[in-house]
Amino acid sequence: MSDTEATVQVLRELVPEELQAPRVAIICGSGLSGLVASLRHSVLVSYDKLPGFVQSTVPGHKSSLAFGFMGSGAGVPVVAMLGRFHPYEGHKLSSVVYPVRVMANMGVKNIIITNAAGALNPNLSVGTIVVVHDHIALPNLTGMNPLLGPQTNPSLPRFLPLSDAYSRMLRKLVFRAARDLSIERDALAEGTYAWVSGPTYETPAEGRFLRAAGADVVGMSTVPEVVAAREENMNVLVLSLVTNAVVIPLGYESVRDEFEAEIAGTSTKAVVDEVVSHEEVLAIGKIKGDLMKSLVEKILDLLPTD
Ligand code: 6GU
Repeated sequence: MSDTEATVQVLRELVPEELQAPRVAIICGSGLSGLVASLRHSVLVSYDKLPGFVQSTVPGHKSSLAFGFMGSGAGVPVVAMLGRFHPYEGHKLSSVVYPVRVMANMGVKNIIITNAAGALNPNLSVGTIVVVHDHIALPNLTGMNPLLGPQTNPSLPRFLPLSDAYSRMLRKLVFRAARDLSIERDALAEGTYAWVSGPTYETPAEGRFLRAAGADVVGMSTVPEVVAAREENMNVLVLSLVTNAVVIPLGYESVRDEFEAEIAGTSTKAVVDEVVSHEEVLAIGKIKGDLMKSLVEKILDLLPTD
């Protein structure tokens, strides 16, 4: 028996039968676990009951799998991760993606991943939800790919294409859902997500670098799960909530100019360095949590039965 099968067997004992075949997996990002409030007949299973699961250590993340029905009418059976794992917590990439493998083993075919992200594209304002259509993952390209190493399941592809990683069908469904909900056009955008390992936020030069490479938003999560989900042949949807703008000034304000103006007694405007904080990230998650929730519910309503 594989490790994931052992975990699924534990879940079969803890979760009622009608919830054992979720159609959709949802991974909730920072401050976005409120999604679970709309789960009906929900059953929570703490990660510490599940072999192979590690613990989430980030404030704003819980540590449970939630099973329940979501959406209008009878709803769609879903499994949601309240709290995800990040490599910066010290978890191995195989641990980070383990829950995705377990959900795949339960037969889940669609996965919706949400995250909080910083905007690199100056046209994206705070609060915008970005439908991710591509990614740049420097860690994947430089030896921190979740699929490095011997294959756990030889029936999965060794060389996984990622040019079609983000399901067109699911991306289009987001815009249909937004239209049905009369969500204003500017509330949504499409873009490319840059994955960085964290836990440090970017320097201004790193922000400019990622922007020049073509990324619209940047964050510290999601891509490992996307890669594992694609290997498991799931349809993937990623929604990034812009929680802050990455400060990428075009050039450094010269401290020499500032110093020389000071000794000459001429005034200069003070340069204030803006910094991003995790509290700010969580606060926007709270404000936009309801919008994200209605969007996900509507997407579930519209999801074609396969
Ligand atoms: Cl500015 N950077 C990264 N790496 N992750 C973030 C973020 C910024 N804002 C939210 N998450």
